[in-house]
Parts: sequence; C-alpha cells; structure tokens
Amino acid sequence: MKVYLETFGCQMNELDSELVRGHLESLGYRFTPDPADAQVVLYNTCSVREHAEQKAYSRIGIAGKRKEAGERLIVGVLGCMAERDGIDMLRRYPQVDLLCGPGELDKLPLLIDNVARTSRVSIDDRTALAGNKSRRSATLGAAEDSLEALDLGRAFEPAPDGDLPATSAYVRITRGCNKFCTYCVVPYTRGAEVHRPPDHIVDECRRLADSGVIEVTLLGQTVNHYLYVHGDAVDGAGRELPQVGPGAAAFAKGGTAKLATRGQKVTTFAELLRRIHEEVPAIKRLRFVTSYPRDFGDDVLDVLAASPRICRYLHVPAQSGSNRILKLMNRGYTVEEYREFIHRAVTKLPDVTIAGDIIVGFPTETHEDFAATVDLVRSLPFKNNFIFKYSPRPGTTAIDRFPDDVPVEVKKQRNNTLLAVQSEVSAAVHRAWIGREVEVLVEGLSAAARADNDEPRVAASSARTVSAPSATKVELRVTSRGSATETLTPPTPRESVPTASRARQMVARTQGDLITFFDCPLDVTPETLRGRILRLLVTGSGSLQLQGRCITDAIDLT
Ligand code: 5AD
Ligand code: SF4
Repeated sequence: MKVYLETFGCQMNELDSELVRGHLESLGYRFTPDPADAQVVLYNTCSVREHAEQKAYSRIGIAGKRKEAGERLIVGVLGCMAERDGIDMLRRYPQVDLLCGPGELDKLPLLIDNVARTSRVSIDDRTALAGNKSRRSATLGAAEDSLEALDLGRAFEPAPDGDLPATSAYVRITRGCNKFCTYCVVPYTRGAEVHRPPDHIVDECRRLADSGVIEVTLLGQTVNHYLYVHGDAVDGAGRELPQVGPGAAAFAKGGTAKLATRGQKVTTFAELLRRIHEEVPAIKRLRFVTSYPRDFGDDVLDVLAASPRICRYLHVPAQSGSNRILKLMNRGYTVEEYREFIHRAVTKLPDVTIAGDIIVGFPTETHEDFAATVDLVRSLPFKNNFIFKYSPRPGTTAIDRFPDDVPVEVKKQRNNTLLAVQSEVSAAVHRAWIGREVEVLVEGLSAAARADNDEPRVAASSARTVSAPSATKVELRVTSRGSATETLTPPTPRESVPTASRARQMVARTQGDLITFFDCPLDVTPETLRGRILRLLVTGSGSLQLQGRCITDAIDLT
C-alpha cells in the first residue's frame, strides 16, 4: 500500500512524521509524494494555531471528495487535532477512518491494518486512539510508555535511492509540557512532560552521527527544564525508562536544578548537552529548541561557552513585553526577568543569536501593553521573532476565561507594526556581522539557482532582467511558523546578478542560524559542498540573510 503523509505545524510534528514514516516503511509500506497516487493519506496535524487547523480541514475535505467519487482510500488524522477533537471529528467528517493522537503514534500500523481489514458501518467501528487525555501523573505511567519505542526504533539507514544523505536531524529529549500557558493547547494535546533517559538520547545522537548526520537539533517544549532523576524509573531488568518531569518547583532561582537533595544522581540539561558534545564529537553542530525564559541557568550558558560544537543560538519566546499580559498568559516571569536573562546570555556568549515568539492581540491587550512589547522587541538583539495573532484555541484556559476582545483589524495592525520593527532590528543584527568570518553549514543550491538551472539557458554569463524571485526553500523553512514571511527580502537583486553566478548561488547557515548566501567557487561542483562546513567572509546583509565569500582553501573543498 502506498502512503501519503503531510505534516502541519511544528518541528516536533516533523520529527513525529519522520518516525512514523520509518516505522511504516519497516513494515513494508511505501511512501509517495503524490496524494492521488496513495491508498492511505495521513495528515499529521497541529492545533497550536487556527491557521494550521484550517489547512488540515481543507485537505480532509479534498480526501472526502475522492471517497465520494468512489475511490477506496484510508484517511487518517494524526497529531494534535486527533487528540483534541477525538470522536467529534469522526462524527463531523465521515471520510476520516482513523484518528491517532501524538501519544499513540506507535500504534498507527495497527490502526491502518484494522481499517484495511474491516468495512465500516458506524462511528464505533472506526478507529480512534486519542488516549492521552488523562495526563500521566506518576513515574509508573510514563515508565509503561510504549511511545518511547517509536523514538528508539528510529531508522538510521542511509537515505533512499537517489536521495542525498540527511546531514541534519531532530532528536526528542522531552515530550509534552507542564507549563499551561493559558493560550496554549500543547499541555492538553501532548500531555504531561516526559523526559527521556540521557543514555537513549546520547545513543540516538551517536547512531545518527554514524549514519552521516552532522547537525542535531534537540527538541522539547521547554528544553532547559530537562531533568532526569536516575533510579526513579527503571524496568524489571534495571533499564532506565522515560519519566514524568519534576516540574518547575525543581528549579531554584537562577535555573539550577536543586533535586540532588534526595541524594539521587540527576542529569540536568547542561549535563546532557555536555555529554552529547563530548561523547559524539562527529556532531559538528548541536542546537536545541525551545527554551523557556525562566529557569535558564548559568550552568547551561557555561557549557555553551566551553563547547565549540554547541551552537550559540537560543530560541526563547518572550510572548509579550507587558507584565500584565504575561501574567494573564501564566508565563511565570516578568519582562524584567526576561531582559535579565537575555543580558546574561549576551554577556556570557557575545556571539549568541536570539530568536523568539510574540503573540499580539491577546485578550485585553491595550495600546500601552502593545507599546511595551514594541519596546521589548526594539531594545533586544533579536535575530528574528515569529509574530502570531492571538487565536482562541478550544480546550485552553484563555478561551474560557478571557473574551477574544481585540478586534481582528487591531491584531493585524499590531502584527504589521511589530513586523516592521522586527525587520529593522533583524537588519541591524545581520549588519553587525559584515566583515567578520563565519563558519557555515551548506544546505545546497539556493532556490534562485535551482530555478535558473531548470530554465533554458541563454548566454551563460549575460546579465538580464527577470521577475522578482520566489521565496527560497530555506526562507520558507525559517518563516513557516509565523508571519515573518512578510518581512522577506530577496537575497540579491536578481536584475544585477549575472546568470552564471546566480546559477551557482548556494545557501548555508551560520552557527547562530543566520541564513547566508554565497557563490560556489568556480572550480568546485556545488553538490559536493552540501552538508559541509565552510569558512566565509561576510560581505553584505539584509534583514533576514547574510551574503558571504568563500575563504575556505580550495584544497579543502575538493
Ligand atoms: N494564538 C496565537 N499564537 C499562539 N501560540 C501558541 N498558542 C497560540 C494561540 N492560541 C504561539 C506562541 C508559541 C508558538 C509555538 O505559537 O507564540 O510560542
Ligand atoms: Fe505551550 Fe507554554 Fe508549554 Fe510552550 S511552555 S508548549 S507555550 S504551554
């Protein structure tokens, strides 16, 4: 059977989809990029914002039309929407055959198999596994957690025929979230915070490195709250198991875990980073998302400062610059504390780049509250901020407690104002790199170069006028979470760039995740640079990218 799998939303979903794909492939399913060619279509959905949900509903609608037209098709909804809507979705969308919440993905092959074997007559016969509703409250609950098998069963084989080997990968360190920000569905859809044993994580990194991966991004909703208490969760054979997180109470002011009091050995986030850095040196770049502004200890910053292969990059959402709104959001920190953290990070790591998320138009947000957010964004060196217009999410505290009283037009206006401010700040952050040398990890030809390579060639080096460039793959990746899309500026004015040069334009990222364009040296084949780390001199910048010149020795490049 051929499967089409589409992913909406966050990096956590991207990783889930990769694991689901590996699992199904190991059982003989084949994947197709064309939904029309598939007998099973799966949508891995996201409920964090309304926009992603609407996209998923539209896909479900299309699948429904195919079934109405008589096609035999299995339609599955995975992820957060399946978890949150549960049986309601089956009622409203008869074309959906199966639901599988993010905590049950290991059971997906079973569900598909069930649907394939049975002909359905009623809702009860349809298959739903959205069973994470009860937040696991005890170590034992998590210890029985078979979902870990999905991460552990990850496929490490080389890429399928014709594909270039993957050089970057995600590795989960925690699942779920215990913070209960009032606007957010994640604690309900992904359940309680569960921390993976450090040995599992280090081993996964090692195996990824062995298969050619050189960049690993550790994933968790609040990575700096990673804390594993050894001995609390073990199976009958004494092997360590995932365990429910100890909660924010385990962190003293300043962020250092204070759990050692019970006399048990603990692995903190700082120690986990140090272990991966030391034990898997083949990983040339180690990064992590997302950080929680509270409880970010100096211990983590010190490990970053001492570890050249850990990226000096923090994605640490402020969400608002107003203390009143932060309180309504239940974020657990003040603007002053947020500023203090950024100040501490920049002092210890002068080259650090900082990205964040902001929500505009949260209920009751006044002009003064918004002005405080603008002030925060203007006064800190954010490389970028993903800016979201508040949307009330079913199941959250905010939807029950606070009427969505900021008019749509005001939200839009605040969004645009903040984007413009962020664009100026981003431009200044990027400009400051001009004249410096940076190490970049090459992702491949830029989108403009790929488009040029596909076009019929005219005289190889003639300059010519063409229409505005489309957004590059990299730009889309970076901007897909929020409305930063609107601040995109083309890497170079295409009118003035000779065709031959454009056709060899490459895209790469610095350690701090700054997108960098450069021309592939003429004596080097562009494809050979993909996944390599090069030195560039930064020669120019825009609001979302750098331009550089390759200064790595030609000998090192061939
Ligand atoms: N409305 C708007 N933005 C939201 N986010 C989460 N929930 C909502 C919501 N209800 C944003 C936050 C978070 C990011 C992943 O999505 O900024 O950091
Ligand atoms: Fe949602 Fe807050 Fe948890 Fe982030 S920290 S996932 S915003 S509840």
